[in-house]
Amino acid sequence: MALINTWLTDRFDLALPVVAATMAGVADGRFAAAATRAGILGGIGVGGAASGGWITEQAAVAEGPYAIGLQLWGLADHPDQFEATLAARPTMVSLSFGDPTPYVEQCHQAGIVVVSQVGTTTAARAAVDAGVDAIVARGGEGGGHGVDQVATLPLLQSVLEVVDVPVIAAGGIATARGLAAVLAAGAAGAWIGTAFTTCVESTLPDDAVALLAAAGEDRTAFGKVFDIAQRTGWPTEFGGRALINSFTERWTGQEDRLAADASALDRFAAARDARDPEVLPVWAGQGAGLLDGRRRPISDIVDELGEAAGLLRSAAEQVGQEP
Ligand SMILES: Cc1cc2nc3c(=O)[nH]c(=O)nc-3n(C[C@H](O)[C@H](O)[C@H](O)COP(=O)(O)O)c2cc1C
Repeated sequence: MALINTWLTDRFDLALPVVAATMAGVADGRFAAAATRAGILGGIGVGGAASGGWITEQAAVAEGPYAIGLQLWGLADHPDQFEATLAARPTMVSLSFGDPTPYVEQCHQAGIVVVSQVGTTTAARAAVDAGVDAIVARGGEGGGHGVDQVATLPLLQSVLEVVDVPVIAAGGIATARGLAAVLAAGAAGAWIGTAFTTCVESTLPDDAVALLAAAGEDRTAFGKVFDIAQRTGWPTEFGGRALINSFTERWTGQEDRLAADASALDRFAAARDARDPEVLPVWAGQGAGLLDGRRRPISDIVDELGEAAGLLRSAAEQVGQEP
């Protein structure tokens, strides 16, 4: 029996309408299994350079309903990622950061529900035209990659008006209050990343967790300097939100100079490999300011998110009778 009933809980038999975001570098099969055991939909995040074999291994560890998140721009060089995903037959696949059209039909034939993360209403319309089953409306305050054009609330309101598929809200939702807010607005659920990055089951190393724990709500920034420095191949239309450090402060606004500065790129690589906190990319959204810093089991965080049910009940009590 779900605590709150929506399309997401009904379709995937969840206790709470939440997806643990498919976060590369954080969410592997063990993370997804723990999330699903906690009553939400677990996610596995596939990095642009991951192998199909890695996906197969992680999928074997996942339990019950779970999602695999693919970065579409990486599939041209790594077609084995898509093949391994189809073969694993996850409950859901997120096809984001590119055009999902070439992949949707094969997912449907394999019985996989397809979602796509979008950052604008125009992109939401395009994803629906591509045939996705649900939209993840991801505002610019979210952690990791996307676009930073519209914040979660205005995006959610707009997308809910124009699409006729379920809409899951993402970006800055880190507590029961945030979950209750987007459900009250009409979302089918929340797609939550940053709030789960510090859980026990996250693969994020302790030094990055400590940086996250110390960060306030105003210590993240959206940009492209890490993608330039890491030469990961992200298309320029996307950027990422991460903790601010000396590296982002030094190079934001100087992206072209950074790309052309071989010695700066070498210094970055050496300092990153040494895990220098002034250089290390720690992807996170504005919800970082809401983390309490302890490394807790994901089930504890999910239990707290469940307080959204009480908040929604209280909100309903505030609604007066029709005169
Ligand atoms: C550390 C980290 C890694 C991420 N990696 C991916 C990824 O590999 N694929 C993806 O679709 N989204 C990725 N995201 C974005 C999330 O799916 C989601 O959009 C975002 O976390 C939602 O905002 P929030 O962090 O404020 O909850 C990542 C987010 C974080 C924080």
